[in-house]
Amino acid sequence: MDKVSFTQMKDGTKEDYEFLTAHEIDHTKHTAKRLLKALSELDESLSGYQITRLGHSVQSATRAWRDGADVDWVVAALLHDIGDIYAPYNHDEYAATILRPFIREQCAWVVQTHGDFQMLYYGHHLDGFDQHKRERHRGNPYFDDNAQFCERWDQASFDPEYDTLPLEFFAPMVEELFARTPYDPEVIRPGAREPLVDDAVAARRAA
Ligand SMILES: [Fe+2]
Ligand SMILES: [Fe+2]
Repeated sequence: MDKVSFTQMKDGTKEDYEFLTAHEIDHTKHTAKRLLKALSELDESLSGYQITRLGHSVQSATRAWRDGADVDWVVAALLHDIGDIYAPYNHDEYAATILRPFIREQCAWVVQTHGDFQMLYYGHHLDGFDQHKRERHRGNPYFDDNAQFCERWDQASFDPEYDTLPLEFFAPMVEELFARTPYDPEVIRPGAREPLVDDAVAARRAA
């Protein structure tokens, strides 16, 4: 079989659906590659900044890496703006949806709501923006993590002079993350909080 027999889903057979499931599993193996390609396409989006969206993404991940953050944090930093291409009005939710099955809940939440936290840095300059929009999340156990994510990695990563590592450096981490079993409780670890900064790891990586 190289194609299913049906033209309407309701007419499909068990054989059809088993065939499609096998296909789908194969397709999902290449998610990391497709995301890295999508990320490279961010190079053409959103002009006006001193660096491209790709440059910003890789710089955010580089800062996370140099802070000694774990792989979940580094990949979260790398992909946090991937929604800019197709979802300019909820790019944070879009990115979180991609990451959620494969990443710690803490990181998924931070990516999902980082847009509200980022407003702290520019909302007061624009009409109709609430600089303190992040306050609606006050009380969330990951509030401080998001504040730190934005302060250290997101809002700071628009510097064309920064010594940013290449995208290829992060490719194995993206591959590792998306090769995980989706929704594995050992990965999601609801409520667990890992630090964004680990000085000992940072020192090892700098050596
Ligand atoms: Fe963003
Ligand atoms: Fe960003």
